[in-house]
Amino acid sequence: MNWLNNIIAYLLPLIPKSLIKIFARQYIAGETLPQALGKVKSLNAAGINATLDYLGEDPKTKAECLLAIDVYKKIVDKIHSLDLKSGISFKLSHMGLKLDKKFCSENVYSLIEYAGSKNVFARIDMEDISLKKDTLDIYLEMKNSFEQVGIVMQAYLRCGIEDAGIMISENANTRLCKGAYYWEDEQFVYKDMAQINSSYAYLMEKLMAGGCFTAIATHDEALVLEALKSIDKLNVSKQSYEFQMLYGVRERLRDIIRDQGHPIRVYVPFGKEWLAYCIRRIKENPKMVSYIFTNTLRKLSRK
Ligand code: FDA
Repeated sequence: MNWLNNIIAYLLPLIPKSLIKIFARQYIAGETLPQALGKVKSLNAAGINATLDYLGEDPKTKAECLLAIDVYKKIVDKIHSLDLKSGISFKLSHMGLKLDKKFCSENVYSLIEYAGSKNVFARIDMEDISLKKDTLDIYLEMKNSFEQVGIVMQAYLRCGIEDAGIMISENANTRLCKGAYYWEDEQFVYKDMAQINSSYAYLMEKLMAGGCFTAIATHDEALVLEALKSIDKLNVSKQSYEFQMLYGVRERLRDIIRDQGHPIRVYVPFGKEWLAYCIRRIKENPKMVSYIFTNTLRKLSRK
């Protein structure tokens, strides 16, 4: 599928945003905070925790980053005042990492301090490899000052074993995902899905055996089964792991996991800057790709 993925990645930006939005809608909880909060309330009522993500990953100015911090603080206020079962997730690029690392780290400090004061857990997402070292540096800096902060590991990275060692030595609250930045160079990442999957299964067990709180972030049923095996084998308590899924993806599997009594959390993204996020999701949906292209061609042929 790699060649097809590459063609799709190349062509998607050429499709009008209004058309992509039709397909993207299922992956975002809306463009506004009230819409997203409504979705979190429904998830909570269904026994599912959430983590709210205010979308945006490429601000061009420091003022935009400061605005994003303000929005995140409003999210924290709402989670607290409405007593929602939700944390926050954010990307360091959104906090200014590409503009100025020190500025970014100060922003993140102020946000995590604020979230902690309201008992809201904050997780730093992992982006592409060019930001990985700085992301890890800032996470470790925050971990020195705050307890309620977590990080993400990507199983497609060839340095996964080394990363797991750092997570274990830091007793890091770690979300393990496959990795979403499909254009990474082969020298850094596995491209073959079978390799990514075995890396995922290995690292997941390593993290749990090493005592890290492990958030098992995948919609891959085979890996969910691997996780269940590891949880049983290691006798991991419910306080030390959770499953995580993205909003709008494989809801039936999500409900089965919940019904089996496992802790589960859904990542709830919202905001006007949904395009980059949704393109990554559309690409990961095996059915969506041909559907989009058939519909695009049909629309174009009607013009
Ligand atoms: P995979 O892509 O193999 O999908 C398994 C199956 O799930 C597919 O066969 C399909 O049936 C279904 N599926 C997957 N995606 C779908 C979609 N969009 N629509 C419909 N069906 C779909 N990445 C990253 O680099 N940094 C990060 O910080 C995060 N954070 C994060 C948080 C959470 C809660 C999750 C679940 C994922 C992330 N990711 C991420 C994304 C992750 O790296 C990965 O790109 C996606 O989760 C897809 O990988 P799967 O493990 O689901 O496997």
